[in-house]
Amino acid sequence: MKQNTIVVNPSSTRTDVQSFAQYQSLYQQSISDKETFWGELAQSTLQWITPFSNVKDTSYQKNDFHIRWFVGGEINVSVNCLDRHLAKRANQTAIVWIGDDPQDSKSVTYAELHERVCRFANVLIQLGYTKGDRIIIYLPMIIDAAVAMLACARIGVIHSVVFGGFSPDAISNRIVDCGATGIITADFGKRGGKKIPLKSNVDQAFLDKNCCALIKHTIVIRNSTDPTPLYHNQHWYHDLAAHATSHCPAVPVKSDDPFFILYTSGSTGKPKGVVHGTAGYLLYASYTHKLCFNLQEGDIHWCTADVGWITGHSYVVYGPLANGTTTVMFEGIPNYPDSSRFWKECDKHNVSIFYTAPTALRALIRDGSDYLKTSKRNSLKVLGVVGEPTNPEVWKWYFEQIGHSKCPISDTWWQTETGGVLVSPIPFTTPLLPGSATLPLPGIELALVNEQGQELQGASSGHLVAKDSWPGQMQTVWGDHQRFYETYFSTYPGYYFTGDGAMRNEDGYYTLTGRVDDVLNISGHRLGTAEVESALVAHNAVAEAAVVGFSHAIKGEAIYAFVTLKGGVLGTEDLKNQLNDTVIEKIGKIARVDIIQFSPALPKTRSGKIMRRILRKIANNELDSLGDISTLADSTVVKDLIESRILTT
Ligand code: WT7
Repeated sequence: MKQNTIVVNPSSTRTDVQSFAQYQSLYQQSISDKETFWGELAQSTLQWITPFSNVKDTSYQKNDFHIRWFVGGEINVSVNCLDRHLAKRANQTAIVWIGDDPQDSKSVTYAELHERVCRFANVLIQLGYTKGDRIIIYLPMIIDAAVAMLACARIGVIHSVVFGGFSPDAISNRIVDCGATGIITADFGKRGGKKIPLKSNVDQAFLDKNCCALIKHTIVIRNSTDPTPLYHNQHWYHDLAAHATSHCPAVPVKSDDPFFILYTSGSTGKPKGVVHGTAGYLLYASYTHKLCFNLQEGDIHWCTADVGWITGHSYVVYGPLANGTTTVMFEGIPNYPDSSRFWKECDKHNVSIFYTAPTALRALIRDGSDYLKTSKRNSLKVLGVVGEPTNPEVWKWYFEQIGHSKCPISDTWWQTETGGVLVSPIPFTTPLLPGSATLPLPGIELALVNEQGQELQGASSGHLVAKDSWPGQMQTVWGDHQRFYETYFSTYPGYYFTGDGAMRNEDGYYTLTGRVDDVLNISGHRLGTAEVESALVAHNAVAEAAVVGFSHAIKGEAIYAFVTLKGGVLGTEDLKNQLNDTVIEKIGKIARVDIIQFSPALPKTRSGKIMRRILRKIANNELDSLGDISTLADSTVVKDLIESRILTT
């Protein structure tokens, strides 16, 4: 190793990849014979109803474009996450639930979870749902969210979980896009001491006629004592469950049948429905969960993500449960009631693996360190981060202050599209480098390319691509296979383009540097500039809008909007608030625009394309490197924008 890496000696050695040399040879082996590598893993990891006949049937070529894994096989995800553990783990805790209020916590055993999932699945069957139907899940972080997901899995219904922070418009768009015929929600959720009116958001989504026509039933989970009126075809879950038994045979599902749809933002258009297949996804979630966190018998795994994101799917629900782990579900937020929350809960529940987002760590660092005295954090063994680059200072704080320099940090790089982690240290094996996600996992073949699509060798920096498929790779965009190809495979033909820039050092370590497309990463959450722009333009005072990200100490990236108003409209503070209300209504609070600059004109090329590169520089106050503005139709626009810019630092 040429770089200053950190090696953490394990208190107990790993049982799988015991040395760095072993990782290196396993990696080579996995790449030279992928079929054997993934085939053996799939056989030893999952319980199959029908064995697969072909491990890998994938092609990135335009004329023969498809991604299929473990073809011919049949499995059931809920059986893999529940039934097969019952012999050994019936009385083991499957889920520890930590409420928003520190007084609230509950847990369910594998036997209890199995029973609840079967009952819920029977409720869905009673209402007429069958394999291949789509159901939207819009729930808070409560145990029922995992139950509802697994109940869909039990009968082959395709779920699409919508994050509880998304707006009614976001719900109706998703319902219409995937043709959902059912929705599972709760009366209220709770976050940071505030009530979230989920059911009333669903009612508002129904104002969209298309959505109203599609949905046959709304199942509402009672999660508060407040009165909530139910309308036509809305049912309390507890009423339906009273007539349902807890015996429910699992439906066999083909390996490459869609398992779930999760919407994510891209650089253009509306969010895409990322479709994950069944067996490949489950294998990949389980494999990476074991490997990246050095999973051991007895571990208590806490991933703080919401199930509305892919991280919650793979590392709160499916990975941990497939591995028979005790997984923690947290309803609250990191700083409620105060910044000691995470760490006190780690002590209380003996958490051994803790996985969170850098933005949460940055917010906690800002609050000083006094609150760390109220917890010991001695149960922790492995720490993880995901969602955005972790700056080395934050890495060091996490390593030294939180983990007492004893817990390796898994900086896991991945995406909604990848299903699970692609680049991460293997704790106690890979020498760590603060700020770097280090090396690809066995089975994953990556490359850096330059803008011409040529592969770069050795230490270099470029665009990160994958050279070949892996089982967790998304299978298509719901309803638009062409868009799947165009978005990810047309930029660099023959490769999967991640949309990220990265640097690679002489040891092959990857340091991810952020998106190179028009995708924003706000507090680890993904938003498309186009989505925010359409929301702004939906306000009738707005003629045109251009949105860019600027660096923000806590959020990582925040939103700066340049807005051109219609003739005669005054750019007031009140109008700024109204514009933000529109954005929140169309997308949700996570899309709140931090800075709005009213600008009479936007910089455009002669062909009329907005030059976001220049706007990004202005928003970040990087005026020395504005670059070439000679291609602009009118370069005086830039001068005006600079003069009236709003400083962000
Ligand atoms: C984008 C994917 C995968 C779950 C969370 C976000 C960024 C993710 C890292 C990391 C640097 C990271 C990338 C990626 N990202 N993890 N460890 N280091 N950047 O999923 O919403 O699909 O966003 O998040 O830019 O492309 P997502």
